[in-house]
Amino acid sequence: MTLADLEVLERDFLMPTYARFPVELVRGEGCRLWDADGHEYLDLFAGVATAQIGHCHPALVEAVRDQAGRLMHVSNLYYTEPSMRLAERLSRGSLGGKVFFANSGAEANECAIKLARRHKPRGEVVVLDGAFHGRTMGALSATPQETKQEPFAPLVPGFRAVPRDDPGALASAVGDRTAAVMIEPVQGEGGVNPISMDVLRAAREACDRHGALLVFDEVQTGMGRTGTLWAWQGLDVRPDVMTTAKGLGGGLPIGACVTAPEYADVLRPGDHGSTFGGGPLVARGALAVLDVVEAPAVLASVLERGAQLAAGLHDLGLEGVRGRGLMLAFEHPDAPALVRRALLEHRLVVNATGPTTVRLVPALTLTAAEADEGLARLRAALAAQHRPAATI
Ligand SMILES: Cc1ncc(COP(=O)(O)O)c(C=O)c1O
Repeated sequence: MTLADLEVLERDFLMPTYARFPVELVRGEGCRLWDADGHEYLDLFAGVATAQIGHCHPALVEAVRDQAGRLMHVSNLYYTEPSMRLAERLSRGSLGGKVFFANSGAEANECAIKLARRHKPRGEVVVLDGAFHGRTMGALSATPQETKQEPFAPLVPGFRAVPRDDPGALASAVGDRTAAVMIEPVQGEGGVNPISMDVLRAAREACDRHGALLVFDEVQTGMGRTGTLWAWQGLDVRPDVMTTAKGLGGGLPIGACVTAPEYADVLRPGDHGSTFGGGPLVARGALAVLDVVEAPAVLASVLERGAQLAAGLHDLGLEGVRGRGLMLAFEHPDAPALVRRALLEHRLVVNATGPTTVRLVPALTLTAAEADEGLARLRAALAAQHRPAATI
């Protein structure tokens, strides 16, 4: 099939919710991708921050291949070792309580929202402006962005948004009726905006004062992305509940909600469920990803490569360079055009999170040479910006 054939199938059979680039990708290895014509791309986007250890890492491929040949799915009515081992590993490596497995970031957040309501019945959830917590109705209601919410009103009631950078506003929005405050330590889809320590501390204090849960959405910041396994481990604020997805499966669909011990049994039998959640196939994959990500050398490299890329972006004269570890962004007057040109003309995969923001979230296994190569390709794409746009 040609790319034109695929475009016809998309036009006729897929709901038009995505704007795809005219590229058919057929293979990946580490930070490289290849299209159907054999062109090689350098990938600094990692499938929206999911291919955490690169494409087709041999350890992940081997784990999935082995598990696929044994047992893929039986539901949560029975025991499977990978699921139990992954729950133990996630708990011990984070908040020390209990885990619920979901299949995506939005679903992991649905669990956190339900847990908060179970903890404090009819309670409100306070979120920050610019947040993105997902597209399901609960997670969408926690995502205070007009364009995403408005067409789907009425939303789930009981969510309140406060300014992103105002500790006082946050503190006064939290009261005895607040069930939870939900925060991404670095807002991802909103444009790679680290939340200030003042806001995080204010959230912790307000939650303690009013018996509300502090929930960190680590769907994008987790699994080593910011240089510690979970972003909160690099800060001095510890949440009561955290969610993870994206990088957890290294490309496989899995999400999880993890509690501190005090909240481990808030959700009771029958309160929540997911047919596929934490099945043995994805759990085996996630265990293999954790083996790689948790190696101290990998986490150290995240900080080194992040600093290298950030310095390189500054050297290119780019404005608004920001982020943590390998979660970076910069400003550009026409981010979508730059991203398109980078992909189609310079075979560099980066992403626009908005009209003026370009985001880089490569695999944590990115090498120093690949980081330099990415910067060189970006320089070429920037230099070409006055030429007519790519039309392929
Ligand atoms: C912080 C955060 N939370 C939740 C989600 C939703 O995850 P998913 O698309 O897997 O439902 C995303 C996705 O971008 C995210 O970045």
